[in-house]
Amino acid sequence: MVAVAFYTITGQTAHFIDKTGLVAHQIEDANPHYDMGEKYVLVLPSYQDFMMDSVVDFLTYKNNKKNLIGLIGCGNRNFNDLFAQTAKKISVTLHVPILYLLELSGNSEDVVNVRQIIEQLSQSDKTAQQKAKEVEKPKELGNISFLSDYRQ
Ligand SMILES: Cc1cc2nc3c(=O)[nH]c(=O)nc-3n(C[C@H](O)[C@H](O)[C@H](O)COP(=O)(O)O)c2cc1C
Repeated sequence: MVAVAFYTITGQTAHFIDKTGLVAHQIEDANPHYDMGEKYVLVLPSYQDFMMDSVVDFLTYKNNKKNLIGLIGCGNRNFNDLFAQTAKKISVTLHVPILYLLELSGNSEDVVNVRQIIEQLSQSDKTAQQKAKEVEKPKELGNISFLSDYRQ
C-alpha cells in the first residue's frame, strides 16, 4: 500500500482514517518532524492557515514535500468557497493533485472511494491520478501566500 499521512485537530480526520482501515502516520503537534521516506498521500482537514503550522513543519521536513503524490482534503461545505481550503492551497502551491474531497469524517461511499484510490496508487495504476478532480482556486486565495515561501 502507498503510505498515508494525516493531520487532525478535533478527531474527524482520524475517525475517517480509522474507518478506512488504512495504516497511516499521524502528524503530531508535539513533533511534526517525521520523515515519510517514501511516496505518500496526505489526508488533512481545513482550517485557517495559522492553525496548520504542524502540517507546514511536516511538509518542510526532509523530503516530505517531494514525496507527496496526492492530497485528500476534508472540510465542511458550510464554509462555501473555503471548503477544503487547506488541501486546495497546498495543491495549488506544491502542484500536487487533489485525489478526493470529503466532509467531516466521511460517509461509507467516501471510505470505499478513498480505499480504492489508495489501492490503485499502490498498484502503480495511474487511474486514480487521472481521475483527480480539477479544483478551482478559491476566490479568497487572492491575497493569501500560504506556503508561498517554499513554492517550487
Ligand atoms: C475553527 C474552524 C475552522 C474551520 N475552517 C474550515 C474551512 O475553512 N474550510 C472547511 O472546509 N472546513 C473548515 N472547518 C471544518 C473542519 O475542517 C472539519 O470539521 C474537519 O472535518 C475537521 O477535521 P479534524 O477533526 O480532523 O480536525 C473548520 C472547523 C473549525 C472548528
